[in-house]
Amino acid sequence: MSESFDAVDVIITKRGRGELSDGQIDWVIDAYTRGAVADEQMSSLAMAILLNGMNRREISRWTNAMINSGERMDFSSLSRPTADKHSTGGVGDKITLPLAPLVAACGVAVPQLSGRGLGHTGGTLDKLEAIPGWQAAMSNEQMMRQLEDVGAVICAAGDGLAPADKKLYALRDVTGTVEAIPLIASSIMSKKIAEGTGALVLDVKVGSGAFMKNVEDARELARTMVDLGTDAGVRTVAMLTNMQVPLGLTAGNALEVRESVEVLAGGGPEDVVELTLALAREMLAAAGRGDVDPADALEDGRAMDAWKAMIRAQGGDPDATLPVARETHEVLAPADGVLTELDALKVGVAAWRLGAGRARKEDPVQAGAGVEMHAKPGATVRAGEKLLTLHTDTPERFERALESLEGSFTIAPEGSRPDLLPLVIEKIS
Ligand code: URA
Repeated sequence: MSESFDAVDVIITKRGRGELSDGQIDWVIDAYTRGAVADEQMSSLAMAILLNGMNRREISRWTNAMINSGERMDFSSLSRPTADKHSTGGVGDKITLPLAPLVAACGVAVPQLSGRGLGHTGGTLDKLEAIPGWQAAMSNEQMMRQLEDVGAVICAAGDGLAPADKKLYALRDVTGTVEAIPLIASSIMSKKIAEGTGALVLDVKVGSGAFMKNVEDARELARTMVDLGTDAGVRTVAMLTNMQVPLGLTAGNALEVRESVEVLAGGGPEDVVELTLALAREMLAAAGRGDVDPADALEDGRAMDAWKAMIRAQGGDPDATLPVARETHEVLAPADGVLTELDALKVGVAAWRLGAGRARKEDPVQAGAGVEMHAKPGATVRAGEKLLTLHTDTPERFERALESLEGSFTIAPEGSRPDLLPLVIEKIS
């Protein structure tokens, strides 16, 4: 087959800070997906994009080309509106688990196509797979039926959705080109637009445990994604939220399921409850149901009923005992004072090294592994009190996990206050 463009010309255009034409973009994504552009050429182009950026037209065209590389789902025949949430990923970020059934209990269907974790941020599917019997794989027909009957689905994205992104993301992961805002924005939004949700709330994390380490970069990523969603006819808003500190008191698969169930039962850590309700309100508003208060559905048990129905519909037993790791190790407070810092990245890496996450995508994860936190910044602690409990089935992992926790917390004299960003930093719409 004769090709309409030459990969080297496309690379040289971007290397020279030029704009890629619509034709060049459509061609390069299509040709890469079919194997006519080689990995080394695409990685060179990705690096040129990382260094020289893309304008709004280029990002929009790039996103569309990735959407067009696969199938598009359509939920318009459902009897209720749809809304989805996407988080850019963080430590202890289990919010999808209570959020999807909560929003479903308020009359808006939630089609969540999720992934598995790679690196220090956990994957939603890994967390749910800690529940005995629960299955991540679903056909499109099963998904439609469950959305109609239960109102919420959390399942694995099929291979048909944005296959260009699947290939490109794997390449970026090994070529130092993940952190390019145009590439992150188009990667996330191509999947979300192809998924066919009517409304979308983006939770853009900021801080050590997130891709975006500062508010300015997070704002630029959020603005780019909101524009992409809006241009594609998806009502999209973004919230910048704090990821300097882990969310909640657990990082690890079964540990996070347990905490999510506590939230659905009306308890749970304050920050998890606050963020779940804030995102639920945005999803309901974006889906045209801003008159409904999700706090009521959390209080009166409707969200818990929707959770149990969602888990059962996918083969899981919501009342089964969750897996527990075989071994634990406690980290004690070395002094009296106020905990002022608890670094999200270091806790995330520790949970990962304990077996909660994977280094290669084919690695298994341990359902019970992870880190339990007994105090969060702002708490007064006494010397010798438990600060963290590490959980794993394989105690030889404790040493490396403890290494990653070195310098992870600060205990300051009494009267000190943590200097942290607020949980919800700002909204971009
Ligand atoms: N998540 C994605 O899906 N893509 C990225 O590029 C980064 C995070």
